[in-house]
Amino acid sequence: MKEQQNTWEQVDRYTEELLIPHDEVLEAVLSNNQQAGLPAIDVSPSQGKLLQLLIQMKGAARILEIGTLGAYSTIWMARALPQEGKVVTLELDPHHAEVARQNIRVAQLEERIEVRVGDALDQLDAMKKEGVSSFDFIFIDADKPNNPHYLEWALEFAHPGTVIIGDNVIREGKVIDEHEADPRVIGVRTFLELMSKKSRISATVVQTVGVKGYDGFVLGIVN
Ligand SMILES: C[S@@+](CC[C@H](N)C(=O)[O-])C[C@H]1O[C@@H](n2cnc3c(N)ncnc32)[C@H](O)[C@@H]1O
Repeated sequence: MKEQQNTWEQVDRYTEELLIPHDEVLEAVLSNNQQAGLPAIDVSPSQGKLLQLLIQMKGAARILEIGTLGAYSTIWMARALPQEGKVVTLELDPHHAEVARQNIRVAQLEERIEVRVGDALDQLDAMKKEGVSSFDFIFIDADKPNNPHYLEWALEFAHPGTVIIGDNVIREGKVIDEHEADPRVIGVRTFLELMSKKSRISATVVQTVGVKGYDGFVLGIVN
């Protein structure tokens, strides 16, 4: 696995060097996150670019992100938006949210990104009461045990054509272990099983390798 990891990292570096231009802002965001003591659990540059491309392909203008961290993925996504577009991103940890706001200022995206601080389930409930409109693209990337709840909320804020992505659903293959006690694995298993029962969503899983190891995401469209 260690040798494979080395190859995956080198391949990521090689393809990123070719296809993803160096970006001072995104590099500053990662360095700011590190200095602020945030865990390096943001998406990789290749995954950030994938989110950006999917948003552009979809022509999404309203994005919901559950799990902001330092807003690395948020900035990738916000940059794909049309002029009037908006990302609403939800973060539990006030320190993460503060670092995210600093990074969003550095990226000059304050107009397009709203960071809401608090437990995502409470925030989603509040957003419903506030009458927040539906989203075109929803990225679920917070605490995995709550993923089944986030799927229900994603459907609540979806319209026909909304894209839903759930990150880290493979977890080095642990997803297939029905006896695994890790609540994150149980969370993603329940999430995928729930998704399979929802006739409103058509989805598939893509396994991934790279700098972030062996994992994968589920990608679906609401009908
Ligand atoms: C994997 S990180 C997000 C990474 C980010 N999307 C990126 O790629 O740059 C998960 C984030 O979700 C936050 N989180 C955990 N539980 C949460 C909850 N109940 N509500 C909202 N955010 C939560 C964590 O504090 C953490 O910052």
